[in-house]
Amino acid sequence: MIHRCIVLIVTGVLVCTTSLAQSGRIPVAADSGLVVSSHFLASRAGLETLKAGGNAVDAAITTAFALAVTLPSAGNIGGGGFLVYHGADGEVTAFNFREKAPLAATAEMFLGPDGKIRDNSNHEGPLSVGVPGTVAGLALAHKRLGQLPWAHLVEPAVRLAENGIPSTRDMAGFLRMLSQSDDPLYAATRKAFLKDGRHVYAPGERWRQPDLAASLKRIRDHGHDGFYRGETARLLAEFMARHGGLITEEDLAIYEAEEQAPIHGTYHGYDVYAMSPPSSGGVALVTMLNILEAYNLADMGHNSARYLHVLTEAMRRAFADRAEHLGDPNFNPDMPVERLITKAHAEKLGASIDLTRASASDSAAFGQVYLVPESEETTHLSVMDAEGNAVSLTYTLEYGYGSRIVADDTGFLLNNEMGDFNPIPGYTDTRGYIGTPPNLVASEKRMLSSMTPSIVAKDGKPFLIVGTPGGRTIINTVLQVILNVLDFDMTIGEAVEAPRIHHQWLPDVTSFEALGISPDTRTLYEAMGHAVRLRGTQGRAHCIMTRNGLIYGAADTRSYNGRAIGY
Ligand code: DON
Repeated sequence: MIHRCIVLIVTGVLVCTTSLAQSGRIPVAADSGLVVSSHFLASRAGLETLKAGGNAVDAAITTAFALAVTLPSAGNIGGGGFLVYHGADGEVTAFNFREKAPLAATAEMFLGPDGKIRDNSNHEGPLSVGVPGTVAGLALAHKRLGQLPWAHLVEPAVRLAENGIPSTRDMAGFLRMLSQSDDPLYAATRKAFLKDGRHVYAPGERWRQPDLAASLKRIRDHGHDGFYRGETARLLAEFMARHGGLITEEDLAIYEAEEQAPIHGTYHGYDVYAMSPPSSGGVALVTMLNILEAYNLADMGHNSARYLHVLTEAMRRAFADRAEHLGDPNFNPDMPVERLITKAHAEKLGASIDLTRASASDSAAFGQVYLVPESEETTHLSVMDAEGNAVSLTYTLEYGYGSRIVADDTGFLLNNEMGDFNPIPGYTDTRGYIGTPPNLVASEKRMLSSMTPSIVAKDGKPFLIVGTPGGRTIINTVLQVILNVLDFDMTIGEAVEAPRIHHQWLPDVTSFEALGISPDTRTLYEAMGHAVRLRGTQGRAHCIMTRNGLIYGAADTRSYNGRAIGY
């Protein structure tokens, strides 16, 4: 255990925490509760909620609101996500607060007269914005499972926004880009993120967000309606009307988060719970685990060529199912989810795996293959409280800083999640565009996601809490962290730090993290017929596991400001 004193300059006061800060592969150990998130100030706020008697749901809500202030690239109130809960009493549930397409949305809304996407409009500009879900989701989770008063949970975020936080170096690229733009669409973004609306804050300089603080106060005082009705809703709708967006006050007023059952699977005697559709994460994760259960992975050796080969073959098959079948269940009543997660289906998929040769991804018709670079800017947080209740929460704006749009006087970034719909009906290509029907745009539909907040339980108690950002790589990162613990007996720190790979059916190429998988292994792997691309890093997994009565947390050292903090 490493005891370290971190000195934080928060709101002008020097705060010396006695928290246990993580160092690489050595996880943080705690007796009574632990929060892991992408920003130390958010983890700390969550921990304070635990210490004040809040449960894991309360602490997750506090952390999520604090991230909306401290991690604008992905923490949000203008986006959406999913929360998976496993209580110490065995209760398991999930909250779906994925964004929705506005009422006026249609399957062809992004297409120009030539049938192609017009001006990148599914990912840029007002049409790319889905109706945000985060506030509704957190409010619903609180209503169902929260313990402390709502206002208490939102207040730390209000204070962080009002008093200011140190600007961090990882924001420099975004801030520079903003300072060079004079596009009127981003005027309120410049006001929110630049000094006097014009100059870039230096790292460490105090950055205050008064408009965001005002939006958060309305949420603090009026809950769900403090966002979806009244001033915030009016400001959002007026902005959209002025700039050619579709979201109206009605869209906001009718938005509701949903409580639903997560996907449940088993793996070598463990119970695996992960997000159900409209996330593809749970179905794909359980499919892959079911396929891999047939092998003795430990005997193959961690990240050996043989192991990476069977891992890839499981990924290829699960991602093909994903593309064919998955979307918003409210619009796809016949999705064969129950069948896809059976052991029998996995056995069928696994039967075609040749232990010496790569399978084809049926991609020959699509020409040259290459990977679409995906940003890592979603964020995941994990919490366990003193009772042993567990929360796994992943939420996002889609791209880093989402659409980069802030509606006037609201102070928060809006998502560009509409880009997660299949944009061109019937068009599939090797860049990863999928044109299959289940995920085409429709009024009030939720776009398919890869976010995979997950909880693994043993004998009815939460044992492992896992999640990460990374677009479609999310599902494979979560898979590998789980296998690292269950098959390779790693600590949670080792499991999070270990190098990762990704394959998603199409394009038929595997990405390896550039550092960590040896060239010799790569040669053996390629000899089986796989194509390999190197990438920088994959994901930022913030995870928790329990062992011998202690709670261990690991913030991925791939993240800039991530931190596990326990007590
Ligand atoms: O919901 C999803 O799957 C994506 N919007 C997540 C995006 C992400 O992790 C970052 N970048 N691609």
